Amino acid sequence: MDFSELIRVRQSVRKYDGRAVEREKLEKLIEAVRLAPSASNSQPWKLILVDDPELKEKVARATFDSVVSFNKFAPQAPVLAVLVEEAPMLITQIGGRIKKRDYPLIDIGIAAGHFCLRAAELGLGTCMLGWFSEKTIKRLLNIPRQKRIGLVITLGYPAEGYPLRGKSRKTAGAMSSHNGY
Ligand SMILES: Cc1cc2nc3c(=O)[nH]c(=O)nc-3n(C[C@H](O)[C@H](O)[C@H](O)COP(=O)(O)O)c2cc1C
Repeated sequence: MDFSELIRVRQSVRKYDGRAVEREKLEKLIEAVRLAPSASNSQPWKLILVDDPELKEKVARATFDSVVSFNKFAPQAPVLAVLVEEAPMLITQIGGRIKKRDYPLIDIGIAAGHFCLRAAELGLGTCMLGWFSEKTIKRLLNIPRQKRIGLVITLGYPAEGYPLRGKSRKTAGAMSSHNGY
């Protein structure tokens, strides 16, 4: 797929058909994250793919509750990808402190972008989830207490007939300028 087409068709998918994702495709997604750029090439992430049905169900249920229910679709996805933030290289830690920048979180966002675009290229749907019970997911996946989870991403084949929505975005004029703010 041509890259501009890939950007156009990548969208958040919130309905899945339950088909399992082939192991070769999971390997390709791991590779897409592995090759992502990061500050000082720290690669401050660990990607956990959760596809054991029982465990995956429990993790999915930690992304919504009775009050905040917009992620209720998550259990439909056959795979959940969890991006755990790892410590960056010392130089990045020092640089981040001096410049007051959260480089690892920026890096995780880029890695997640790689994951979702590659998934779209493979005919798979994704949705990044920033709302979840970090404590519960850490306990379920044995993630050390001091670590942070950057993002959870749902992954699977979109439900049949899932529509390609138009993009709802700011205009280029509203979000960009040339040679100054
Ligand atoms: C950091 C981040 C967190 C997000 N969290 C959620 C979420 O918790 N639940 C959800 O349904 N979508 C979530 N989204 C998806 C956005 O709502 C979606 O990307 C945005 O509306 C644009 O739509 P599109 O992805 O279909 O182009 C998140 C996206 C990002 C980048």
